[in-house]
Amino acid sequence: MEGKDLTKGFLDIPVDLSLDLFQEIKKLKKEKNAIILAHYYQDADIQDIADYIGDSLGLSQEAAKTNADIIVFAGVHFMAETAKILCPQKKVLLPDLNAGCSLADSCPADKFADFKAKNPDHLVISYINCSAEIKALTDIICTSSNAEKIVESLPKDQKIIFAPDKNLGAYIKKKTGRDMLLWDGSCMVHIIFSLEKIIQLKNQHPNAKLISHPECEESILQISDYIGSTTALLNYSVKSDATEFIVATEAGILHQMQKASPHKTFIPAPPNNACACNDCPYMKLNTLEKLYNCLKYELPEINLPPDLIEKARKPIVRMLDISAQYGL
Ligand code: 13P
Ligand code: SF4
Repeated sequence: MEGKDLTKGFLDIPVDLSLDLFQEIKKLKKEKNAIILAHYYQDADIQDIADYIGDSLGLSQEAAKTNADIIVFAGVHFMAETAKILCPQKKVLLPDLNAGCSLADSCPADKFADFKAKNPDHLVISYINCSAEIKALTDIICTSSNAEKIVESLPKDQKIIFAPDKNLGAYIKKKTGRDMLLWDGSCMVHIIFSLEKIIQLKNQHPNAKLISHPECEESILQISDYIGSTTALLNYSVKSDATEFIVATEAGILHQMQKASPHKTFIPAPPNNACACNDCPYMKLNTLEKLYNCLKYELPEINLPPDLIEKARKPIVRMLDISAQYGL
């Protein structure tokens, strides 16, 4: 759009401080037939204004079925790209284009293409936290909700490359006993939890359940009471009889956990730095002001070449089909 500067990766337009942004965003959504999809790692106010909040699988299922004309993705770049790949005819917006992902960045397409070429008898399963280019080199996409089922849906002797998260890959490899070559990638948020501090916390809260995301390192997973995707962790915290939980994933999820179970206590697992909890610096780039500007001016928009969309779409659709077969 002419006159709208995107050099910073977002619209740096001052927002009138007297505006009630919740009301303004609601009005714009209605006027434009737009939907806001938010990941659990977003700030609480963004989660509260969203039409749908979920994990990566839920968000892609929601994107695939929406009738909205505009999808505003309150999440990171690979998530908005996935929505665009699934709905190429829709306008997909991301409040801040700098909202990347260390895990996606750990798997450059040229290096991955070489790795794949060296292992031609392997089928490629990639975690959805990867670029559209990696998706185009993939046979089936997975998320932390369905990775185990997707691996198990393949013949037992099928050789598999699993990319890009080595921790999720190692966890699934151990659970399924399958022959998997792992790409050496990881998420900066999930690998900096401090085992020592978590053990200390467990000693201070002996009745607390440690619940962890499979992107965490094996040493953390080994002492966890429950391991699952963000949605699975949330569901577990609701259903469990326990009243205290140490949560080893990005701290944004605590908002929904606390909302669903106000009488329970949720303690963010500490990282090995001076912070008490663990935020994803990319997820937290989105703000209510950027979301408002993004919806108002319909920028920044995600656009991808049609041939890349076509190639990247197949493994995502395969994932959605297998997930539907398993009722996920
Ligand atoms: P899920 O949403 O699948 O739980 O993954 C968490 C994550 O790291 C998203 O970036
Ligand atoms: Fe990427 Fe990790 Fe942030 Fe998720 S939490 S977006 S995997 S860096």
